[in-house]
Order: sequence, then structure tokens, then C-alpha cells
Amino acid sequence: MKKYDVDCPAYIIDQERFEGNLSLINNVQEKCGAKLLLALKAFSLWKSFHFLEPNFKECTASGPWEARLGHECLGGLSHTFSPAFVEHDFDEVLKHSSHVIFNSLDQLDRFSKKCRDNAHPISIGLRVNPGYSPVETDLYNPCVNDSRLGISRVLLSENMPDGVEGLHFHALCESTSYDLEKTIISFEKLYGEFLSKVKWVNMGGGHLVTHKDYDTGHLIALIQDFKKKWGVEVYLEPGSAFAWDIGVLVANVVDVIHQGGITTAILDISFTAHMPDCLEMPYQPTVRGASSTEMNNGYKYRLGGNSCLAGDFIGDWWFDKPLVVGDQIIFEDMIHYTTVKTTFFNGVKHPDILLYNKNGGLEVLRKFSYENYKERMS
Ligand SMILES: Cc1ncc(COP(=O)(O)O)c(C=O)c1O
Repeated sequence: MKKYDVDCPAYIIDQERFEGNLSLINNVQEKCGAKLLLALKAFSLWKSFHFLEPNFKECTASGPWEARLGHECLGGLSHTFSPAFVEHDFDEVLKHSSHVIFNSLDQLDRFSKKCRDNAHPISIGLRVNPGYSPVETDLYNPCVNDSRLGISRVLLSENMPDGVEGLHFHALCESTSYDLEKTIISFEKLYGEFLSKVKWVNMGGGHLVTHKDYDTGHLIALIQDFKKKWGVEVYLEPGSAFAWDIGVLVANVVDVIHQGGITTAILDISFTAHMPDCLEMPYQPTVRGASSTEMNNGYKYRLGGNSCLAGDFIGDWWFDKPLVVGDQIIFEDMIHYTTVKTTFFNGVKHPDILLYNKNGGLEVLRKFSYENYKERMS
């Protein structure tokens, strides 16, 4: 039996869950007195941005295109950080930003005059390395030794460079408020002498406030204390938290093959093209109705992507009945980052993007066609 009556493959966002996350985040924002900015890199399905109104107009951007998207589709100006801004599109960054955060003193020197001369005020910040991160996977840890992300303390003298109004750090990934507390302790130890001289501190992303185990009360107290202690504005820029567990990727089984003792159900999607974080992190996603650990009397399958990449699979799952061609496979929590990072690799049909609205109806936000694939190539 089909669980969703849709043309597969498709990403489906659940409006009710999305609104649940937004309401929780707004509640945290109001109580702690910090501004929580959506990180567009994690979620930029702009046809659903009306759900963010009116509480999340400003966002955080990684460069001119995200800043422009935020401005056009959310209405506010961005807090924009890039590892390195580029001369020829910096005017576009300024047009759509209220805050610009530099990753090196050289970039600050090069671009600060343009910021000062801009038509609307730009608040300048520096991204610094807070010296601590709880993230154990190096690929996602911006604070590893010799990281290129964030200026190290040794490169800053006693004084804040002229014109700098804020400090930014980003050290978390799907983390808790207790991880943030440890990061703040390290940040204060290294940069405490600057904190009475700046107007704002941006504590980056990675705050998974919408996770069921997240201690929002502890976060609220932490931010309130920090604001009181230093007299600064605080920004947090989570991405994943906004879109945490708000939707699925629905695929079809298109073949079942038995080879070398392994039974593979080949799907009409690809892990590398449509769920790249699974391979990058790596992690085995949850499949609705299946178990990732051995199930008594269960049927074991490898779920394989429909691409040429030999490693286009991640682990095995157990189902309570045999899979056949046409069965629907539903991958949970496949919206944050995933929908932004997809590719047209191998020309495997790109999943459509749908909204499951509160009345139980499915609305198509975007359908992908052969023409979209072709246009992408030239
Ligand atoms: C500078 C910065 N801010 C915010 C984020 C958003 O983080 P998350 O989606 O984990 O909350 C990231 C993620 O990489 C980031 O690099």
C-alpha cells in the first residue's frame, strides 16, 4: 500500500511540524532576548517562507546569493559571513545585508571602507575561533587545529580593530545548550577583554533547540546571563533546528537484486545525489516501518541508489515483509541541508518538492523536469 499518493520521488514538508518548530524557536527567541536567524544554507525552500512571517525576517547568509534570497523572500537584511568575500560581488552583499562578518583581518582591511560608505548602515563583525568545539567529526568541526574558519586569538592584538562592532563564533553542530555553555566559557577566556567593547556577539549555528531532548530553559538562562554580564546583543543562527524532522523523502523500489549474499532494493533516488549528508557524515537514516538493527523474522535489504557510484548505499534495513518493485520507501527527516545540497548527478530524476498542508492536502512547490537538468549543464 502507498503511504503517500504522490509521483515519486518527492520531498514532502509537513506544515504542522514546520509550524511547531517555528513556534518553539520564536518562544525561545522571545524568552532569551537573542535574535534567532535562520541559516539559509540549511533551509532555503523559499516557497514555504511565508510560514516564517512575521518573526523571522532576518536570516544569516553565506554570500551574495543567499543574502539576496533572504532579502527578496523574507524581506529582511542578512547577517552575512563568508570565509572570503569576493571584490566583484561585494556590492551585492552590502545591498542585502545589515551585518557583514569577516574571516580575516586582511578582508576587514580590504572591505571596511565599502561597508562604512554604504547607503544603509552595515555593522561589521569578525569571526573568531572560540578555541573549543564539541563536534567529533573533523569535517564538521570549524575549530580543529589550523582551521581556516575563524581568526585565532593570537592574530588579534590588545585592541579591537577600528570599526568592528561584533564578534562571531560558530563551533556547534546538532549540539546541546551544555555544549554551548562550554564554548562560551572558552570564548570568554580568549576574548573577554573585547566583550565590553563590542555591541553584539553572534554565537553561530548548531543549536538544535527543536530536538525533543534539548534543554531550552538552560539555553534561555545562558543567553540571559551572557547579555547581562556583557551588555551586548546576542544572535544565534541555527539552520537545522528550523527544519528538524519536518519532512521526508519518498522513493520507489525499482528493482530487487540478489548478489554475493546481499539483497539490494534499488530505488529511484540516489544517496549521493539526494541524501548526500548520509554518505558525508556518514549516518544511516531512519526508514519508516523498517529497522536498522536485526529484526526477528525480518527481511534484510540494502537500499541502493540508482547511480553509478559503487558506494551509493548506507547500511542495511530489516522489513517485516519482502520488498517488491513499486513499494514506497520513506526516509525520515530529509529536509534540512538535504534539500539544499542535492544534485542532478547521473541524471537521476530529481525529487519534486511538496507541502503536506494542515488540511491533509498535498501542494506541489516545485516539480523537476528533464529541461531543469539540461539547463543546469549549460
Ligand atoms: C557560520 C554558520 N552559521 C550557522 C550554521 C548553521 O548551523 P546548523 O544548521 O547546524 O544550525 C552553519 C552551519 O554550517 C555555519 O557554518
